[in-house]
Amino acid sequence: MTELCHEGAALREACERVRREGGRVALVPTMGALHAGHLSLARAAREQGADFIALSVFVNPLQFGEGEDLGRYPRTLESDLEACRELGVDLVFAPAREAMYPDGFQTEVRVTGLTQPLEGEHRPGHFDGVTTVVAKLFAKTGRCHAYFGRKDFQQWRVVERMARDLELPVEVVGMPIVREADGLALSSRNRHLSESERERALGISRGLRRVHDAWASGARDAAQLTALVRREVEPTSDKIDYVALRSPETLEPAGDTIDAGVLLIAAHVGQTRLIDNLWLGVDARP
Ligand code: PAJ
Repeated sequence: MTELCHEGAALREACERVRREGGRVALVPTMGALHAGHLSLARAAREQGADFIALSVFVNPLQFGEGEDLGRYPRTLESDLEACRELGVDLVFAPAREAMYPDGFQTEVRVTGLTQPLEGEHRPGHFDGVTTVVAKLFAKTGRCHAYFGRKDFQQWRVVERMARDLELPVEVVGMPIVREADGLALSSRNRHLSESERERALGISRGLRRVHDAWASGARDAAQLTALVRREVEPTSDKIDYVALRSPETLEPAGDTIDAGVLLIAAHVGQTRLIDNLWLGVDARP
């Protein structure tokens, strides 16, 4: 049975009850419009021993910038609930905006260094919105394992940093990217792509696949590896925000010749902004 609640107190009480009885709590924060990528996080939580899975659905206005897609972000609570029922999620927490940010709310949680490059450069303030809402979710849930997708690689690292720096009783777990059979990384925003845009969007995963293969056959030159992605994405996208090879821990530039790295990309196809990445030597072939 999947319970639906809208109040933070109900989430808190449910999690406390589970822990009192010796159970392990897992939290899966989402903005809804659930797809197989989100659901893989709930499934991983179950497989890794959670006794109680709480999944939050909240389109967090704080993390959307001026002119971004807050207004057209898909909201599909009924089908989200259905998917959660099928998967055996125990509780869906879907607060109203006023419940999360009541009148007088004036606190911001900010991670510094890790939030500066990449998404931070292109979406100023975005991560402050993310860490503020995730800190609130962590506060309500209490001791738990919290599951994040490596689709948002930088977000995962930022949230992990926040939990460590604030000594929150939360184990942040990062799970692999779930893709369509043809390579496209699942995203709630994919539904905005027209058929021809979707075709063009495949340039991103194709580029990452080339990098995966080059890495597997021994290529270690950073410029050469990023060029492989650019070659696929430049002709197929409308604008590239970045293609960057970074340290998987610090997200600083990985150097000219690398022995570890994550290749991150953000690009626009039509009106839709897509992000994707490949953790070299760790991720499966896109
Ligand atoms: P949202 O975009 O809904 O994503 C929720 C979680 O699902 C994130 O951890 C994200 O990385 C993961 N996810 C999305 N697509 C995935 C895919 N193809 N494979 C694996 N995991 C995937 O990220 C957010 O919401 C918000 O910023 C949030 C953390 C909920 C804070 O508001």
